[in-house]
Amino acid sequence: MTTAWIEPDSTATALLLLGRASDADSERGVDCPGALPAPSDPDLVERARRARALLGDRAFILGHHYQRDEVIAFADVTGDSFKLAQQAAARPDAEFIVFCGVHFMAESADILTGDNQKVILPDLAAGCSMADMATFSQVEAAWDVLREAGVAQDTIPVTYMNSSAAIKSFTGARGGAVCTSSNAKRALEWAFEQKQKVLFLPDQHLGRNTAVREMGLTLDDCVLFNPHKPNGGLTVEQLRSAKMILWKGHCSVHGRFTLDSVNDVRSRVADVRVLVHPECRYEVVEAADLVGSTEFIIKTIDAAPAGSKWAIGTELNLVRRLALRHPDKEIVFLDKAVCFCSTMNRIDLPHLVWALESLVAGETVNQITVDPQTTANAKLALDRMLELP
Ligand code: 13P
Ligand code: SF4
Repeated sequence: MTTAWIEPDSTATALLLLGRASDADSERGVDCPGALPAPSDPDLVERARRARALLGDRAFILGHHYQRDEVIAFADVTGDSFKLAQQAAARPDAEFIVFCGVHFMAESADILTGDNQKVILPDLAAGCSMADMATFSQVEAAWDVLREAGVAQDTIPVTYMNSSAAIKSFTGARGGAVCTSSNAKRALEWAFEQKQKVLFLPDQHLGRNTAVREMGLTLDDCVLFNPHKPNGGLTVEQLRSAKMILWKGHCSVHGRFTLDSVNDVRSRVADVRVLVHPECRYEVVEAADLVGSTEFIIKTIDAAPAGSKWAIGTELNLVRRLALRHPDKEIVFLDKAVCFCSTMNRIDLPHLVWALESLVAGETVNQITVDPQTTANAKLALDRMLELP
């Protein structure tokens, strides 16, 4: 029996958790035309299985490591953002790429797939707060600041995958490349072969951690460009002497782990090894034992000996899955006060069922499309990344 879902009132404070109705103030809106199944519907798993089977090879489902278990169960492949971009590009025969991840990842998939393929994001409100910290107009204005300071011609932009297609396009048009947390060092090495300075967007932490910890730059070689301050809050002299111009953006999840989180877990768990993602703050990464992308974190835990103890600083869905998969190892979350990535969690089983059943019914919903001009330049930046040695 299906439990009836009570619609929340459409007030200013209603979260519209199931994506019903629309929120005029939301950048991408949360429209969900059609009947979204209730999360308590006991038939949801069966409905997802049935729709998945009916779509067969027409659909390919990608699942980012931070997705909920109920969604990961239906992913044809799981991965970090780099692996998922590669996988999307490697499926030219799939008519639908159903992207269980966030908006910038689905945009990248659309850029890397053919015009005959459709990329579907089961909930349009699955954005990324970090990506939203660098808008196209802000970055264009920043480039003007660099130009006026006489450093633009010596600067190459490198943008983290976690950025909008418009920022990737800006980067591609100026000779730059995309990077992910698995290849940031290689991308920066390549960038410094082209120019003397890098404008790193939008994650200051990945940029700083890679430059200082992996490439021998100093903290003084890095400056922080604040798009909310005149001239980024920097003097011409600071811009001229910097090697890394870091955009003032961060991840709302990883940015919440602190040095106290590390010290606290070390005092609670004897012999614990601290393993964190490079989106964490510099002082956290410095205090950790190991640092790496989500793929690196998974490989490290898979290869760790039984009985070893780990405190992991990344998204909770992944940490919980690792702990369940390795009952012979002691795995704890680096800081209990840090929450799930709220936007990743927007993709849930009701939205996945709704998207798959709509496709079965011949209705394409929540398609993510990037316009041809943006695609052309963004693809240059993505291809430069995919071609890195
Ligand atoms: P990776 O998938 O590159 O590890 O990045 C983590 C992340 O925050 C994705 O949103
Ligand atoms: Fe964005 Fe951080 Fe969530 Fe990744 S984990 S989608 S970077 S807010």
